[in-house]
Amino acid sequence: MPHPPRILLINGPNLNLLGTREPGVYGRETLAGIVGAARRHAEALGVGLSDFQSNIEGELVARLHACHAEGFAGVAINPGAYTHTSVALRDAIAAVAVPCVEVHLSNVHGREPFRQTSLTAGVCAGVIAGFGPLGYRLAVDALVEIAGLRGRNE
Ligand code: DQA
Repeated sequence: MPHPPRILLINGPNLNLLGTREPGVYGRETLAGIVGAARRHAEALGVGLSDFQSNIEGELVARLHACHAEGFAGVAINPGAYTHTSVALRDAIAAVAVPCVEVHLSNVHGREPFRQTSLTAGVCAGVIAGFGPLGYRLAVDALVEIAGLRGRNE
């Protein structure tokens, strides 16, 4: 495991538009702002954080495939709309031997019925939804615990 241990934050389609995208649902923080806060939170725990965003399903699958070989200790992923549609993303998460935590800004369980099914959640260690940008920092906390990273870099 590289030192410091690193986690990967993956964001799926349309999340690059945060800040202007449906602010009543997703708030006004940009993706760069949200990722920056998650990175600072991880670094305060002695963990590095890399991030990747794509609107393309196959690129998200390929990034997941690479994360084990690249030595990432865990993955936080907001699959966006692919949460509800992508068997390929589910299979990629199941295929890689790296713990994943699913994150949603909005509380998908209180929204349209089609958002209340996640194809990816069942192969993740757990799901955090409805806490806005805080959810990304909670996902970092969860990964630090379940991947046993606490104090690893001391
Ligand atoms: C989302 C919820 C999804 O239903 C939606 O398609 C998104 C964002 C969230 O973070 O709340 O793109 O994943």
